Amino acid sequence: MAATRSSPLPVLIRDPAEWQAFCTARRAEGSLGFVPTMGALHEGHLSLCHRAAAENHSVVVSIFVNPTQFDDKKDLAAYPQVLDADMQKLAGAGVQAVFSPSYEALYPDGYRYRVSEDTVSRRYCGAHRPGHFDGVLTVVLKLLSLSAADAAYFGEKDYQQYMLVRDMAAAFFVQTKIVACPIVRESNGLAMSSRNERLSPADRAAAGAFYTIISGAPDAGAAIEQLAAAGFDPDYVEDVEDPVMGRRRRLAAIRFGGVRLIDNVPVPEGRRT
Ligand code: PAJ
Repeated sequence: MAATRSSPLPVLIRDPAEWQAFCTARRAEGSLGFVPTMGALHEGHLSLCHRAAAENHSVVVSIFVNPTQFDDKKDLAAYPQVLDADMQKLAGAGVQAVFSPSYEALYPDGYRYRVSEDTVSRRYCGAHRPGHFDGVLTVVLKLLSLSAADAAYFGEKDYQQYMLVRDMAAAFFVQTKIVACPIVRESNGLAMSSRNERLSPADRAAAGAFYTIISGAPDAGAAIEQLAAAGFDPDYVEDVEDPVMGRRRRLAAIRFGGVRLIDNVPVPEGRRT
């Protein structure tokens, strides 16, 4: 019988200069796809890696829990850090290398310089999480600069983040193409997230109704009422125009079982208000 063959683990790189050199070498061989993450990987993240692998010669991933985007320091402290398990998962997803730098290495300026957007970043999730998107955009620009990939893959799960990254890349003439990937859901409809692990099994099962309600409600106001009636604590639900994608998205966030959950769906057809 043939021995079980497992894919080799990705190369782990901590040093930014070494990462730049590695990515440059990969680009010399063919196109390079890049997937930025904060680790604690699940099928949602892996779907981005598979897409990147299907579209590129090489795929690289970053795993960095970025302190500057956590407005709530307790949330940062509770964020799972499971690098060994993540490396195993990435081995099976066609990923060649993982960049996991220290804060000091990625922020040699100590966050004196930052990217700030003054409109979309202040709305929706940004209205509830001051400074969050400054942290996201700053770290993403650093990671895009270091990797200089042909394409970078982002999940529609974080739709506001995707819009902001896409528009930042255009604003700063970043050469990397920004690709949006569909949301991967659990069987009850709940969008996969590392935060789902913090829900009790009963709450995790009940949280599927978040998706059902925002998909079915005739307008954002009705969705808020239905979410509250179902025992969720809505932060916001808003139908948002996205000129690039050409279709409105319904963005929503709730607090439930001690966790903040976000999701979004296309605004149901025939229900444009
Ligand atoms: P993280 O939450 O680890 O997510 C990394 C990428 O995976 C993001 O593009 C996110 O949208 C995508 N993703 C997460 N859950 C998904 C799901 N259920 N379906 C599809 N895609 C999903 O987002 C971040 O990290 C950070 O803000 C980061 C961009 C890495 C900057 O620090």
